[in-house]
Amino acid sequence: MKLLLRNIKQLLQVRDNSIDKVSGAEMKSLPLIENAWLLLKDGLITDYGPMSNMPDYQGFKTIDCTGKMVLPSWCDSHTHLVYAGNREQEFVDRINGLSYQEIAEKGGGIVNSAKTLQQTSEQDLYSQSAIRLEEILKQGTGAIEIKSGYGLTTEAELKILRVAKKLGENYPIKIKKTFLGAHAIPTEFKNNKDGYLDLVCGEMMQKISEEKLADYVDIFCEEGYFTVADTERVLEAGKKHGLSPKIHVNQFNAIGGVAAGVKHNALSVDHLEILNDDDISVLKGSNTMPVALPSCSYFLSIPYTPGRKIIDAGLPLALATDYNPGSTPSGNMNFVVATACIKIRLTPEEAINAATINGAYAMGLSASHGSITKGKVANVLITKKIPSYGFLPYAFGSNNIDQVILKGKTLE
Ligand code: NIG
Ligand code: FE
Repeated sequence: MKLLLRNIKQLLQVRDNSIDKVSGAEMKSLPLIENAWLLLKDGLITDYGPMSNMPDYQGFKTIDCTGKMVLPSWCDSHTHLVYAGNREQEFVDRINGLSYQEIAEKGGGIVNSAKTLQQTSEQDLYSQSAIRLEEILKQGTGAIEIKSGYGLTTEAELKILRVAKKLGENYPIKIKKTFLGAHAIPTEFKNNKDGYLDLVCGEMMQKISEEKLADYVDIFCEEGYFTVADTERVLEAGKKHGLSPKIHVNQFNAIGGVAAGVKHNALSVDHLEILNDDDISVLKGSNTMPVALPSCSYFLSIPYTPGRKIIDAGLPLALATDYNPGSTPSGNMNFVVATACIKIRLTPEEAINAATINGAYAMGLSASHGSITKGKVANVLITKKIPSYGFLPYAFGSNNIDQVILKGKTLE
């Protein structure tokens, strides 16, 4: 299978394979080739260059990209895409004045979603999740991380991860899986958090590693959920089961979770809406990627992650959706990129870097995804005819994606 894209107005995010992420001031540049061609073969990016020296390729299926930009597919490193039902009622409750925390205290929130998921069959959960996955493929996402955490029983947590695995087998998207058993304390363990953590670090992790159902371990480190000590316990147990950490920290309060993540060499620390100077200092010199989730801030009307401050401190930043029923019922990375520009004051170059190569890094995929690089997976977006790539976040409500190519094949 060979596909040649020609007359590309700008081929964006062209990098050699020594780059696994970009940080600080480097994020302001987006390497590109003007008036370019791109050759995709057997699902991989094979070659590219300016039209002025395109070899005389014969007999290839060709797409003319006159006036259009081509860039790597979005890499969404933080989602909870496999969930059951919805929480539209809580959305209305919030409009009527209740806070997200008040709803959770009344038995809504994560445990509400868990109850629904426990009563949903694996087949039904798969069908509901597949509809969401199909939508985000069309919106340009080519690699994604999916977390468990809406099960909160061994059976239900495994069900989520099996569904995520099956989605990865049936759709042309790379899926990384994260075990988030420590997402909330289930009602049965209301007064026995340690008992629940025994289950998470014992039976759940045991079965997940036996079935090889996860790559990463996660925990919601937050007041009212899990402490820093709980976080360390779960991360250490995860390590014993071959799961490296990617954690939810600093969404509502800075309680020291960032330092715990860095100490355990977390691949990413996600949310960071409330970030203090110590958190920024501890991230410097680490391999941990800070991840902002601007759609979550938008939907919950909470502060935006200070991404500007993070990048200006010389750190990298990744952008992801957080697609989930409670805080972000949207998996649209185009909206995330636009919102990062509009609300976090990222430049279009910074936002595109954050949503491609840095997103790939935050799910351990930067060797194969996130840039236009020879040998990487042929996952690319072709935009509509637009004046410049900055038009993507500028025209924030429009769909400016014309075609999506995944593993070298156009998505119908
Ligand atoms: O990442 N913050 C924790 N977990 C999810 C949302 C939980 C929910 O409300 O269902 C998040 O935002
Ligand atoms: Fe999340």
